[in-house]
Amino acid sequence: MTRAPLGGFFITFEGGEGAGKSSQVKRLADHLRHLGAHVTLTREPGGSPGAERLRELLLSGAVRDFGPAAEAMIFSAARIDHLDHTIRPALARGEVVICDRFIDSTRAYQGASGQIEPAFLDMLERIAIGPKRPHLTLILDLPPHIGIARANLRRGADKIDRFESEALSFHEHLRQTFRAIAQAEPDRCCLIDASATEAEVAASIWSKITPHLPAMGLGAQAQTMEPFA
Ligand code: TYD
Repeated sequence: MTRAPLGGFFITFEGGEGAGKSSQVKRLADHLRHLGAHVTLTREPGGSPGAERLRELLLSGAVRDFGPAAEAMIFSAARIDHLDHTIRPALARGEVVICDRFIDSTRAYQGASGQIEPAFLDMLERIAIGPKRPHLTLILDLPPHIGIARANLRRGADKIDRFESEALSFHEHLRQTFRAIAQAEPDRCCLIDASATEAEVAASIWSKITPHLPAMGLGAQAQTMEPFA
């Protein structure tokens, strides 16, 4: 399997609802910047002006009526725009790109509908991103009932989105898919126990990042610094 383009370093975060990705993504970006890295922090669906427009359609549920295959295709269309306008240019500039969700979310969420052939999802993935994969994928793992309770708390009075409203069995399926991906691609993926405190999860993420610091252009000094002080 080919890795991401030379000159940059591509990290993706994945996991179910309420796993704490957004705070961890931000913490990691802040820390790497503090160490001197140029970081592009982005997210999916979205991350480029065109893809952000598709995000609104996808999360409002407006695309749901077209069926899971069409929904998967629109996630992929958003990904193509995001790669073309945000991710590839940043990697070409030699930056560290940190993306909140990427291909594994399509595998897990659209796969969890149970109505799409895995071969169709594989094909869409190849069309959207070609043979390349992120250098490192951190999968935040949490029992879904805890994640959903956290997501409900965080959302407050805001409207529940397209996927948060799925049944608990859907979220259980998601978790199993993410765990299976981590097992199938151990060179790319690390499973992180997200049930610990935010600081503990951050430390465990940092332990997976340090071996890659040289590839990000950060030296030995960075490896010995206290993480997230
Ligand atoms: P978002 O508000 O970014 O939430 P989260 O904090 O859970 O990341 O919502 C993105 C939603 O879109 C989330 O429910 C997962 C879903 N999704 C897919 O179904 N397929 C995909 O390919 C991606 C990138 C996201």
